[in-house]
Order: sequence, then C-alpha cells, then structure tokens
Amino acid sequence: IKKIGVFTSGGDSPGMNAAIRSVVRSCAFHDIECVGIYRGYEGMIEGDFKSMNARSVKGIINKGGTVLKSARSKEFRTAEGRKKAYDKLVEAGIDAFVVIGGDGSFTGAMIFSQEYGIPVMGIPGTIDNDIFGTSHTLGYDTALNTVVEAIDKIRDTASSHNRLFFIEVMGRDVGHIALNVGIGAGAEEILIPEEDLGLDRLVESLRRSKQSGKSSSIVVVAEGDKIGKSVFELKDYVDANMSEYEVRVSVLGHMQRGGSPSCFDRVLASRMGVKAVESLITGKSNYMVGLKNDVMALTPLDQAVKGKSKINLELLRVSDIMSI
Ligand code: F6P
Repeated sequence: IKKIGVFTSGGDSPGMNAAIRSVVRSCAFHDIECVGIYRGYEGMIEGDFKSMNARSVKGIINKGGTVLKSARSKEFRTAEGRKKAYDKLVEAGIDAFVVIGGDGSFTGAMIFSQEYGIPVMGIPGTIDNDIFGTSHTLGYDTALNTVVEAIDKIRDTASSHNRLFFIEVMGRDVGHIALNVGIGAGAEEILIPEEDLGLDRLVESLRRSKQSGKSSSIVVVAEGDKIGKSVFELKDYVDANMSEYEVRVSVLGHMQRGGSPSCFDRVLASRMGVKAVESLITGKSNYMVGLKNDVMALTPLDQAVKGKSKINLELLRVSDIMSI
C-alpha cells in the first residue's frame, strides 16, 4: 500500500479529529502517503482530496467536529455514484482507505470494497455507541460528560422551582447515552428503547418519589424511547394525570455532538488510527478497529454493522436503587 485515503462520514462526533491526526501520522511514520477526503463519500465522488502530512494535523487533537467535514451521501448509494468515486480514487492513486463513521458509513465501505476490491478499514465514530465490536465508539465518552454537565445545570433550576424535567437525549434507537447519564446525573427515571417502562408505571414512580419527600425530579428520555411519546407528549400526559409537579421539558439536541473530546476519546482515537493503518499495511481489509477489554481488536465490518451493541440492563436496576 502506497497511498491511504482518510475521511469522516455520517454524524460527526468528538474525537474524529484526533482519529484523523492519528491516521495521518501513522501513515507518515510508515512512509505511506496520506490523502484527506473532504465531506465523506460526497467528496470522494467529486475528488475533493488534499494531501496530508504530519504537520497538516497539528493543533486538532483537542478540537470537536471534523476538519475533513462530514456528510451523508445519497449518490454513493447508487452504483453510478460508487463508480465515479472509484475513478476519482484511481486518478489520485489512493489504494486503500480508512473510514471514520457509523454503521451507514461502514455499509457503504463494505459494498464499495466488494465491488472494487479496494482495502478498507473502519474506525467507529458516533456518540450513540451503537456499534458491535467495541465497548466504546469515538465521541461517546465526551457526549456522556457533555450531557451530564448540561443535566447538572438543569437540576439547579429544577430544584429552585420544585419542578419535574423531562430531558431528551440523543442516541438514535439505542439507550446507551440515556442510561449512563441518567445514573451519572441522578435521574429519577430513565426511559430507553430497550425497555418499555409504560406510562402508568412512570406516573406511579413519580408519585412515589414525591411522597418520599422529593421536591424536584429529572427524567431522562432517550430519543428512541419505546413508550413512543415525545417528551412534549410525556409532559402533557403527566400534567393531565398528576398535579404534584410543575413540569418542564428540555431537548438537548446537537450540543451533545460538539465540544472538545475527553482524554479518553483522544487516547482511543490515537490507538484506533494506529491500529487501522497498521492493519491495512499487514494486508487486512474489511474490518473495524474496536476496543475490547482495553485491547485493540478487529471485527469484520459486516458483523460490526449487523451485530447489536448490547446495553447493560443491570444499570437500570442500579438506577432504580439509586432513585429510592
Ligand atoms: O448518530 C448520531 C446522531 O447524533 C443521533 O444521536 C441522532 O439521532 C442523529 O445523529 C441526528 O442526526 P442529524 O445530525 O442528521 O440531525
């Protein structure tokens, strides 16, 4: 392998820049050329490339977002789009690539690699932690800390006014963020897609906590929660069924994806970049690098995409006990 392309794709996450830096510097260390591909598969189709060396990635390890930009490409889903992308890669002499992204980005890489035989390696970058084959995706740890900090602030105002807050957090259709920040920020209840608490039990639990002497409460709701109601509908339901609390809603939104990466994410990104480049050099392809029991491990891309990242339901019990 002489020239490796690197790009970020799908929703951005803190730590993506640290991963780009690691891929670029690992290439430099092994005397391999490295090319940054802008805007994910969109930029690949358009040939939006830039040669990168060890110095092009200075000062970015601490930056949120991605200096290579990111996109979700519709055109790459078509055979014509992928052919255009392949032609651009050949023109630029890129003979392997590292994709930093989530399951959609990996699916694109797998199809492309099957069609054109180009070696690919994936680095899981998403705040959702919904990828099989790694205990942590890049950005997840930072997002947890960002969300806990935000909920701590909401708690200040909740307790000053004796209010109940429904706080919606991201995570797409998994509850990793909700479950962990719920415990970390001391939530009364945590609603996640993996477990259907039911509206009656929710109201019952809130009533019980009021009777036990609590004056304010936080309920963390995963955006993909199974009750199937938006946080605003939850507020309406509680308003209609219990008079004990004054209820407010807060949807944290995209602030959860921003910010300077935590030290954990910076170290993880650095390790993943090294492992991705060195795996390509040793002839491996179609794998995702991940963290398993604190060791870098490779998982076939198809398993990473299809396998479900398991949520630790024991945490729900911990939360129940903590919110007594
Ligand atoms: O996958 C990351 C994520 O932030 C999810 O948590 C969320 O559901 C989604 O992306 C939001 O996507 P968009 O940035 O397209 O609104």
